[in-house]
Amino acid sequence: MSKTLVSMTLNGRKVEEAVEPRTLLVHFLREKMSLTGAHIGCETSHCGACTVDIDGQSVKSCTHLAVQCEGSDVKTVEGLASLSGQAGVLHAVQEGFYKEHGLQCGFCTPGMLMRAYRFLQDNPTPTEEEVRVGMAGNLCRCTGYQNIVKAVLHAARTLQQNKVAA
Ligand code: FES
Ligand code: FES
Repeated sequence: MSKTLVSMTLNGRKVEEAVEPRTLLVHFLREKMSLTGAHIGCETSHCGACTVDIDGQSVKSCTHLAVQCEGSDVKTVEGLASLSGQAGVLHAVQEGFYKEHGLQCGFCTPGMLMRAYRFLQDNPTPTEEEVRVGMAGNLCRCTGYQNIVKAVLHAARTLQQNKVAA
């Protein structure tokens, strides 16, 4: 099959690669870019394990073509810490999941982190109910969600404190 050149900004770095038009973004990330943080769970847009951020929106990369990212700004979990603004420091959502034990097996976690990142960009001071609704597109088979909700609220508080301190 003929290939198409696709170029995008990936975690702040310009990349250009020839891909088959049918290549899914999650396969592009994992197999061409060696970014294996986006996990493949359901491949039907249900579980959210493959969630990445494209041009300021949460996107399930299992049902998005790599060629659709032409010219886009794509962020994956591998680039999340760099968004903390401080070298060697975890992003507040990573810190929140760590502090509140928001994971068990960890399979859902990269997608949860990327969804939490975008959710808090859009709603920096959410209620618990809003967190539950905002994270509803990401499924977890282990935790029962309680600690994930706590983790997102923890991250929200940290981001607000950092803003006040800045
Ligand atoms: S693998 Fe993409 S939503 Fe489940
Ligand atoms: S921690 Fe295992 S699926 Fe969420």
